[in-house]
Amino acid sequence: MRPLIARERKVKAQPIWLVDPYSNTIMQKNSPGVRASDGNRFGFNNVFDTHSSTEHVYNTLAKDIVVSSMNGINGTIFAYGQTSSGKTYTIKGDSKSLGVIELAMNDVFANVEKDKKTREFSLQMTYIEIYNETIRDLLNPNETNFPIYENKERGVYINNLQGITVNSAKDVLSLMGEGEAHRHYGRTSMNDFSSRSHTILTLAVCSKNKDMSEGINKIRSSQLNFVDLAGSERLTQTGATGMRAEEGRSINKSLMFLGIVISRLSEQGKGLTANQGHIPFRDSKLTRILQSSLGGNSRTAIICNVGPAAQDREHTVSTLRFG
Ligand SMILES: Nc1ncnc2c1ncn2[C@@H]1O[C@H](COP(=O)(O)OP(=O)(O)OP(=O)(O)O)[C@@H](O)[C@H]1O
Ligand SMILES: [Mg+2]
Repeated sequence: MRPLIARERKVKAQPIWLVDPYSNTIMQKNSPGVRASDGNRFGFNNVFDTHSSTEHVYNTLAKDIVVSSMNGINGTIFAYGQTSSGKTYTIKGDSKSLGVIELAMNDVFANVEKDKKTREFSLQMTYIEIYNETIRDLLNPNETNFPIYENKERGVYINNLQGITVNSAKDVLSLMGEGEAHRHYGRTSMNDFSSRSHTILTLAVCSKNKDMSEGINKIRSSQLNFVDLAGSERLTQTGATGMRAEEGRSINKSLMFLGIVISRLSEQGKGLTANQGHIPFRDSKLTRILQSSLGGNSRTAIICNVGPAAQDREHTVSTLRFG
């Protein structure tokens, strides 16, 4: 089962949602006539209220995925939700709160250190963004528009994207900082620092046995992806015009394709025969790149970030339904 997490953002307004960590449900409160049976109650693998730290979210569900990537199992952690709901805050963190990436890197390199007597590790990092359906290498911003290829050996991959060798969590964070400088952010009336692109930071983990006494060299390789999506937005709420509005439309469109893919996958999971089992991964770059994380060979955690205030209700319900 895919671990699903719903995370409530801190706001000054009174929350209209009740978060129950015992039954792992979120339901709308304070509204006469609203009952669980009205479709206002949503269940997840875990739910977190406004008081939960990113470290708590990470330890509860992402840590396990990170640790198993050291043993050759692909892992993906991504944040989904409306604009300004805390996706970048969760994945990247800020000066006051560590993000999932930094917490994960501390674990990755602690494991490398622990196993270094018996295994030899090679780790490479890439950091890309998908901006208006164009793939950009944030670590080499002059290169753009990389083609996506697929073969049996590598699955779906971005051609010509060069990984950079990393030897410590500090290396990863320093490269991430460089990449951030090239990433598309913009101010909207909902978020002073709104992500205008989807970003994917990938760590390719490869390791082999040092002990060759039995003549067998067991190589383990996996990919660990951290995805910070751009948030869905209503142009009337963000006040976006011109280029920002164009970006907003592109973001909404790719999130719509992501929603369609997830919904078809869940139809398949329930054994429904609708659409002859066709999953339209190819309709957007985002779903194409995330194909194996969504549809197959990966352990994936989706963190659904939601705004608890009344003004965000429509978006929150849509995010919770997505989850
Ligand atoms: N749980 C939280 N605790 C404290 N501050 C938070 C929390 N979640 C979000 N914030 C703050 O809210 C603001 C918006 O968050 P953030 O930029 O992460 O949103 P986002 O979902 O990435 O939005 P967008 O889709 O526009 O990129 C930031 O200033 C962030 O620091
Ligand atoms: Mg963001």
